[in-house]
Amino acid sequence: MSGNLLLSAQHLSVRFGGLLAVNDVGFEVHEGEVFTLIGPNGAGKTTVFNLISRIYQPTSGHIDYVGPGGTLRLTGQAPHAVAELGIARTFQNIELFEHASVLSNLLIGRHIRRRTGLLSDMLFTGRARAAEVQAREKVEEVIDFLDLQHYRDTLVGGLPYGVRKVVELGRALCTEPRLLLLDEPSSGLNVEETDDMAFWIEDISKDLGITVLMVEHDMSLVSRVSDRVLAMNQGEVLALGTPAEVQAHPGVAEAYLGTIDDVSNLRRPAGQQVGGRA
Ligand SMILES: Nc1ncnc2c1ncn2[C@@H]1O[C@H](COP(=O)(O)OP(=O)(O)O)[C@@H](O)[C@H]1O
Ligand SMILES: [Mg+2]
Repeated sequence: MSGNLLLSAQHLSVRFGGLLAVNDVGFEVHEGEVFTLIGPNGAGKTTVFNLISRIYQPTSGHIDYVGPGGTLRLTGQAPHAVAELGIARTFQNIELFEHASVLSNLLIGRHIRRRTGLLSDMLFTGRARAAEVQAREKVEEVIDFLDLQHYRDTLVGGLPYGVRKVVELGRALCTEPRLLLLDEPSSGLNVEETDDMAFWIEDISKDLGITVLMVEHDMSLVSRVSDRVLAMNQGEVLALGTPAEVQAHPGVAEAYLGTIDDVSNLRRPAGQQVGGRA
C-alpha cells in the first residue's frame, strides 16, 4: 500500500426509514491511492460519499480523517468544514452553474477555500487582494492542466457533456484537495471521453499526488486506474482488494459483473455526442 492512512470509515450504517442503505461498512484509504467503490445500483455507494461530504449523518459508526492539523473525527465536523479540510467532490449528476463561463465556475470553486474574512473582502485589503491573485493563478493552472483553454470563456450550458465533466473535475481541483471524491466520473461519456477521463484520473493521482476515492461502473476504467477496490451490495461490503482480486470474487461476479451494471461494453463509440444534459 502507498502512503499513510488518510481516511478511516468504521462500522458505518445509514438507515432511511425501513431501509438500511449502508450496513456496517468499514474501509481505509491511504495517501496517494486510487480507491474505488463498485456495486450495483442502490448498493449504497453514493450514500457513503454523502457521509464523507457530511451531507448525511451516519445512524451509527464514524469516519476519521487525517487533516492538516492531525487526525479528527470527520463525522463530528460541520458540512462547511469539509472543503477546508481538503476534501472535494464531483457529483453523479454534474453540478455546475450553467449560465456562467468555465472560468467563472472554476473561480467560484476556488472561492470556497478562501481564508480571508468578509470585512477584508469588502475593504479589499492586501490579504484579500493576495488571495484573489492566488485564486486566479490556481484557476489558470487547472485550466492548463486539464487542457480547457479553448473553453475558458464559454458558458457551461453550451458545452458538450464530456467537457462539462472535465470542468466539474477542474472545479474540484481548484480547491487544492488532498482527497478527491469522484462519483461516476465516466457516466454519460463515450469511449474516447472515458479514455481521456482515465488519463485525467491517472495524472491527478500521479502528477498532483491527490488521493482519489471514486465510485465507478466501468470495470475497464476501474481496473486501469484503481489501486484497490471495495465492492458493495445492498449496503454491505462484499469484497475488498486489488481490481483483479475483487473481480475474481464469486460474490462480486454474481452481484455485479457480467450484468448490465458493468457499462464498459455498452458505451457509445467516439463521435456520438450526448446532446444536452444527462
Ligand atoms: N435521501 C434518501 N432517502 C431515502 N432513501 C435513500 C436516500 N438516499 C439513498 N437512498 C436509498 O439508499 C439506497 C442506496 O442508494 P445510493 O447510495 O444512492 O446507491 P448507489 O450510489 O450505490 O447506486 C437506495 O436504495 C436508495 O434508494
Ligand atoms: Mg450512486
